[in-house]
Amino acid sequence: MADYDVIVIGGGPGGYVCAIRCAQLGLKTACVEGRETLGGTCLNVGCIPSKALLHATHSLHEAEHNFATMGLKGKSPSVDWKQMLSYKDDVIGQNTKGIEFLFKKNKVDWLKGWGSIPAAGQVKVGEELHNAKNIVIATGSEASSLPGIEVDEKIVVTSTGALELPKIPKSMVVIGAGVIGLEMGSVYARLGSEVTVVEYLDHITPGMDAEISRSLQKLLKKQGLNFVLGAAVQGVEPLKTKAKVGYKLRKDDSEATLDADVVLVATGRKPFTDGLGLQALGVELLPRGQIKTDGHWATNLPGVYAIGDAIEGPMLAHKAEDEGMAVAEVIAGKSGHVNYGVIPGVIYTHPEVASVGKTEEQLKEEGRAYKAGKFSFMGNARAKAVFAGDGFVKILADKETDRILGAHIIGPAAGDLIHEICVAMEFGASAQDLALTCHAHPTYSEAVREAALACGDGAIHA
Ligand code: NAI
Repeated sequence: MADYDVIVIGGGPGGYVCAIRCAQLGLKTACVEGRETLGGTCLNVGCIPSKALLHATHSLHEAEHNFATMGLKGKSPSVDWKQMLSYKDDVIGQNTKGIEFLFKKNKVDWLKGWGSIPAAGQVKVGEELHNAKNIVIATGSEASSLPGIEVDEKIVVTSTGALELPKIPKSMVVIGAGVIGLEMGSVYARLGSEVTVVEYLDHITPGMDAEISRSLQKLLKKQGLNFVLGAAVQGVEPLKTKAKVGYKLRKDDSEATLDADVVLVATGRKPFTDGLGLQALGVELLPRGQIKTDGHWATNLPGVYAIGDAIEGPMLAHKAEDEGMAVAEVIAGKSGHVNYGVIPGVIYTHPEVASVGKTEEQLKEEGRAYKAGKFSFMGNARAKAVFAGDGFVKILADKETDRILGAHIIGPAAGDLIHEICVAMEFGASAQDLALTCHAHPTYSEAVREAALACGDGAIHA
């Protein structure tokens, strides 16, 4: 008899959510995790700690820039970096312990250690062998550096090192203007570091709606971030207490260097499947190293499934969570489903950026007739009251049917506002459906409604 109905390998957002759902569906479940705490990259060295630092440094920005205007006088706070890091660690602790509690509550066994799969139906953790009817691989991803760049997590760091630098650097070069580069670059720029972001493409935030991307770059520039675009980083030379970043401008092949106290390598992530024994098992991989799965997250090995960053698709915690819940349902004999067309993406800079569905560029490429309804937060009373008038909402709808095809927001609470549009898209709603829905005044969400109105007869406050 098998020890478990399901063993999930990996305790990040994909794995722990999958394990909890399996247990809730009546399956005897264990989750293998080798870190000392549950929660994976996201809770320990990713989404959650970065949000704590973003919040702390944004509060500093508010004190320095807006308090006096609001009649809050006195000295701006000074930064106690050690205390800020300990606040961040406390936030991590609260969250990781929370998952431990949820495991106990749902009777999920935590098998502590790094797991491997010696054969289908078996998981080895340390010296112990466990039998499982089903195995779910949820081992996530790791930072992928560039060839010739050695990461020491002290001077040349990934996001992990950037979350625990011993002191605030005077200067920082960020390689890559993606999500990690801009979020962590914002943190250090607000703390007074001279931040320069070097990006290969001619624009920041690859894949994002171009209008939003341009607007974000302008606002980040105003906040003090420097950008070198169209520049391919060739290498990083370690100096004693600094590093030298060498890059080549793509337009004319001219070469230049930048010195910095800290270099953050944020050039993407790759699936982490080391040590699982996949090659020996003959598990099929895709050319870029992801585990190949079918529409039900099954690998080519019977009884072995894979989800999250280890498989194809956007490397996002919430995408992994959705797949975790869905594969649990599949294993339990139900019909798990993920709508990949409605997965929001959020960048937690200030202002936030959020998007779902198609960009204007994608719609143009598809030759689809669409209309765009836009509304600026300058016309939103609530946003103006709290110094958050920068940014806008853009809703893209089918020209004929008015069905919402995508939405892109830059502005206050964009990461929360986007979900109204996600729900609308799940229900196949039209822009008019949103426009006819009463929105409380005064809220940021009125800007979403106004953008929906702009898809029809026009916004009121524009
Ligand atoms: P990314 O893929 O978002 O951005 C990497 C950037 O590096 C690209 O713009 C690329 O053009 C640039 N680049 C690559 N090679 C370069 C070179 N030689 N010289 C200059 N630029 C170069 O990757 P990032 O920011 O490291 O994030 C990794 C993953 O983690 C992403 O999939 C992201 O979605 C996820 N993530 C999501 C967050 C969120 O949802 N808020 C937060 C942090 C990470």
